[in-house]
Amino acid sequence: MKDNRLTYGEIIEKSKEFLIRKDVPSAKCDAEWIVSFLTNKKRVEIYLEFDNYVPQEQVAKIRDMVVDRGSRRPLQHLLGCVEFCNLKLKCDERALIPRPETERLVEIIIERLDPNFSGKILDLGTGSGAIVLALCNILKYAQGTGLDCSTKSLALAEENLSFSGIEKRVTFDTFDWLAGKQLEGMYDLVVSNPPYLSIQEWEQSQPEVKIYDPKLALVSEKEGLQHIEGLINVVPKILKEGGIFCLEIGHGQADLTRSIMDKSFQHVEVLRDLSGVRRFIFCRN
Ligand SMILES: C[S@@+](CC[C@H](N)C(=O)[O-])C[C@H]1O[C@@H](n2cnc3c(N)ncnc32)[C@H](O)[C@@H]1O
Repeated sequence: MKDNRLTYGEIIEKSKEFLIRKDVPSAKCDAEWIVSFLTNKKRVEIYLEFDNYVPQEQVAKIRDMVVDRGSRRPLQHLLGCVEFCNLKLKCDERALIPRPETERLVEIIIERLDPNFSGKILDLGTGSGAIVLALCNILKYAQGTGLDCSTKSLALAEENLSFSGIEKRVTFDTFDWLAGKQLEGMYDLVVSNPPYLSIQEWEQSQPEVKIYDPKLALVSEKEGLQHIEGLINVVPKILKEGGIFCLEIGHGQADLTRSIMDKSFQHVEVLRDLSGVRRFIFCRN
């Protein structure tokens, strides 16, 4: 009788080849994550067990998840979570998957703040709550508010808050910064990763983004600039004197955004992400 069992090495190889055929970026890495997740082993442990057989009941589960990934469902949705600035956040179709670039946005802010910062932080377009939760997790005396127009995203943000250990210092609420309403309160730091893709850029994005991330989180009218312009109208009114405003922008938006921001803010700095793209604006009121 033919032995149809698979070793860890064989299942990784077969899964990788399947994902490559489905044009999945980072096929090998994703295959490793799936096997690691479903066998409850660290990725390095899989390689220590390379020639050992995977238990038969797990083979079927791995196969199903690899097929799902082959349909271009994001790995983070399959695993149900994402690592963001040392936090483990729940992750699903209700909100944008927090991105590595945005971790750099958090780092840029932390590098420029006193570690004992005890001010009020506002995260506009908070999505899963990633930015405000990460900042308040690092800044132990800060108070944070996350606002979003999507009630689904806010429900996910609340779930992420519920197991964060910083429940007393962060709140979430609804607000639409394009609706022309006045926002209450004054803040020491306002941060935002707004929607900034043009509809054409969104049309050309990978299926993981186009099908599974909310379009509301990504697309902005006026060639991707409508939400950034909206922020520049709202933020000066709610930022304390000397307060910080930091935002993420899209590829090719730095010069225009900077020229608009120079009129309302001081010391406007454009900063690059780890790929060298001019991705962040940091300034003071
Ligand atoms: C690019 S996502 C960022 C999510 C999260 N801050 C992150 O970095 O992972 C933009 C967010 O802005 C929200 N949003 C879009 N338009 C908005 C508006 N007019 N007012 C408030 N929030 C808005 C979306 O629902 C989405 O959660």
